[in-house]
Amino acid sequence: YYLGIDLGTSAVKCILVDAGGTVKGSLSLEYPLLQPQPGWAEQHPEDWWNGTAACIRQLLERSGISGDEVSGIGLSGQMHGSVFLDKELNVVRPALLWCDQRTAAECAWIEETIGAEELGRLTGNKALTGFTAPKAVWLRNHEPEHFRRTAHLMLPKDYVRLKLTGAFGMDLADASGTLLLDVANRRWSTEVLERLGIPAEWLPPLYESNDIAGHVQPAAAALTGLAAGTPVVAGGGDQACGAVGVGVVREGIASVALGTSGVVFVHDDTYQADADCRLHSFCHGVPGNWHRMGVMLAAGGSFQWWRNHFAFEELQQAQTEGRDVYEYLTALAEQAPIGSEGLLFLPYLTGERTPHPDPKARGGFIGLNLRHTKAHLTRSVLEGITFGLRDSMELVKASGIVIQELRVSGGGARSRFWRQMIADIFGLPVVTVNSTEGPAYGAAVMAASGVLGRDIPSLCEDWIRIQESIEPNPAARKRYEAYYAIYRTLYGTLKDTFH
Ligand code: XUL
Repeated sequence: YYLGIDLGTSAVKCILVDAGGTVKGSLSLEYPLLQPQPGWAEQHPEDWWNGTAACIRQLLERSGISGDEVSGIGLSGQMHGSVFLDKELNVVRPALLWCDQRTAAECAWIEETIGAEELGRLTGNKALTGFTAPKAVWLRNHEPEHFRRTAHLMLPKDYVRLKLTGAFGMDLADASGTLLLDVANRRWSTEVLERLGIPAEWLPPLYESNDIAGHVQPAAAALTGLAAGTPVVAGGGDQACGAVGVGVVREGIASVALGTSGVVFVHDDTYQADADCRLHSFCHGVPGNWHRMGVMLAAGGSFQWWRNHFAFEELQQAQTEGRDVYEYLTALAEQAPIGSEGLLFLPYLTGERTPHPDPKARGGFIGLNLRHTKAHLTRSVLEGITFGLRDSMELVKASGIVIQELRVSGGGARSRFWRQMIADIFGLPVVTVNSTEGPAYGAAVMAASGVLGRDIPSLCEDWIRIQESIEPNPAARKRYEAYYAIYRTLYGTLKDTFH
């Protein structure tokens, strides 16, 4: 068996996969998200490790699989978060997460110090508030004592690796989101490190995603039920792992991942810097390959916000009927027509990244009138999220990439109604595959690849099957197109009102 671990923002998920790629067990355990100030998002790295160790132990117990039947482990995780450790490997302060927006001033300073164009040349990317380097600069500016104590900087899942194996390491896919990596040459950028004053010794050694980066140490074996010595591959950031997990390992296929964030992800055989770095250019989890992606910060997050605050009756009703509340809400949305009778929703509830790198961006309902009901509002939330993702796809198209197929995954992909909406708004066939376990599944693929010495695309070929393909409906597509044209103008019109 292979164990795939995905260290998410709300929970850790562990899955066990057999040698044929079939999922034999899956378990999630939640941990708290701290929001000490508006726009801030932090977590305790200790919570990640305690949660992961408990999750592995319970999963092994429940599935009746013993630790020594696990031949390899892969790690996936939320990207960009900053784990600061001192010399003795104690956590210096809670980690700042990918969705934390406090570093606008640090991003401006980085782009000024290095020059935006030069930064793009050196790293393939822009300085964005979620990325890791601005967080390290923030620490120096605001908590100099903590900065002085820091001896190691790593990403969330790499802290779990350290606890599991005692070894430092980071894969190139996740490292791409630090803004400290020379993405084109797959190595740390000594130039960026020097110019930002971030010590190179803070950073761990780099690996390809299927490289073995350590072995389970005895103390971790005792806690988790795993066997000491089990190999742990480097794994990847959750986006690279999620893409591998749905088979986006060659050009021409894109994935749309609908989690809290929403991501449009395309594979590149060779390194392609994006014009103006509007899409992120990162190393892929497939060794020697790259990818580009657009990241919307609140995709599923917007729908979850809507459920939490405005769908109380639906929640109760769904509970009474024993139905899933999201299923209930999408059925409600279906009662309103395409375009929600002129109501448009802006999904920038936590600021935005792609295509508007703006921590100050705000959400909104535009075009309300007396005819609008909760069904219209619910539908416009889904349409607004999908239009926001289409913005990223427009950047993909503008860079000359031709996509024939979209593979959707994540919680949002469970709704057939939403999948059809994506097909119609993107004008592309929307495919779902048999593996619905997301990034944890990609991490298991990477583990099997590393242990068996087989390449990732051929394993994906064996393990991943197309389940369903939805074609766009031409009439619906035309109607959405008219609303999308209006949606595209809204950010530009409203941005000066966001404060
Ligand atoms: C990717 C990103 C998010 C997190 C979510 O760049 O910031 O998708 O990885 O866990």
